[in-house]
Amino acid sequence: MALFALLCSLALAAISLTSAAPLESGAHPERASTKTNANALSKSQSTTSTAPPAPFCFPALGFQMPLFLPKDNTHWWCDPATEYAFVGFSYEVTACQSREQLHKEFRDIRQHFNSRYVRLYGACDRDGFYDDIVDAAWNNGLGVHALVWFGFDGSDIWISRRDTLFAALHANPKAKFVTRVVQFGSEPLFDDVLPHDQLAEQVTLAKANLSSLNIPVTVSELAYGYQERGGAQDVLDAIDSINIHMLPFFDQDASTSDQAWPLVQRDLQWFIDHGNGKKMYFDENGWPSVTSPSVQPNSPLAVADIPNEHGYYILLDQHCEDLKGVVGGGIGWFAHIYSDNQEPGYGIYNSTGRQKFPFAPRTHC
Ligand SMILES: *[C@@H]1O[C@H](CO)[C@@H](O)[C@H](O)[C@H]1NC(C)=O
Ligand SMILES: *[C@@H]1O[C@H](CO)[C@@H](O)[C@H](O)[C@H]1NC(C)=O
Repeated sequence: MALFALLCSLALAAISLTSAAPLESGAHPERASTKTNANALSKSQSTTSTAPPAPFCFPALGFQMPLFLPKDNTHWWCDPATEYAFVGFSYEVTACQSREQLHKEFRDIRQHFNSRYVRLYGACDRDGFYDDIVDAAWNNGLGVHALVWFGFDGSDIWISRRDTLFAALHANPKAKFVTRVVQFGSEPLFDDVLPHDQLAEQVTLAKANLSSLNIPVTVSELAYGYQERGGAQDVLDAIDSINIHMLPFFDQDASTSDQAWPLVQRDLQWFIDHGNGKKMYFDENGWPSVTSPSVQPNSPLAVADIPNEHGYYILLDQHCEDLKGVVGGGIGWFAHIYSDNQEPGYGIYNSTGRQKFPFAPRTHC
């Protein structure tokens, strides 16, 4: 669904190709961004310098879940600067999966694919849904990138979603042991759901709300989403980690996925240049196996098929060392998305639950 909005704009932008990035009319007149103390932020973020090493930190592969909840989560998490390579899946929750399905699929995500995290996508407004996520994550040893979903209807429903999520994070004693970060998304800058200074303010307020739980806050966004808002340095300065949408199929220079590395590097370099050394993830990251009305390339040479979907993940594996070397402790990447039932063409599983290609990406190098 994020892709749908993305694609509509990209399709329009593709009409006027004059630069590598798609162009949009109506860019904001930018004000000078308020400088926050980015260094202090990245320091406060690395309270994990005392983190136990893997496999004695959550959610390292091989970590043994304790029988009882620890007293607090200060010596709990793995140091983000040690987390890179494949970390898990984007997982869309718009279907409001049952507890049983969450348990079964989180178990598969952890045990079959060696994931450490699941990144939530979409929204389920069912009462108690986040508690079900927390249980499934705890029982299967998975960390969660939770999400405040804006949706695409321009409404204020994200405010009640935020309040519901924050209330659950405070009320459920297990929540702070599995919730690695709260994302605002998907693509709030690209979709222009809030002016960037207001989005930065929301991030700051959320950090204050969640600070007693030691839960950081981020925004899930494309490089182009920042670029079209004048860089939105205030947002980049406010977020604790940089959660990047890396979707090179839509690049105007896209062809086959084995040729996508320069496209990945171009967006990544922008974040290296502007991100002040923060931890970075590719959190919405993949290549489609089919096009559809809402998944249309901006390059006539872009190929969508299963070998190219597979090939993109092979490419990331081939560049494991390059991605590991990136500032902030290396790129941790998510595969977008778990199943074609969640986002057509992007699934590792097809819509009848069969794996579309062998998928055992590297978790270290
Ligand atoms: C955090 O946000 C929730 C939901 O908006 C609110 O009920 C709660 O009072 C806030 N807590 C703090 C410490 O700001
Ligand atoms: C799913 O994969 C199986 C095994 O490759 C294949 O037989 C089936 O046609 C696929 N279904 C869809 C809907 O693509």
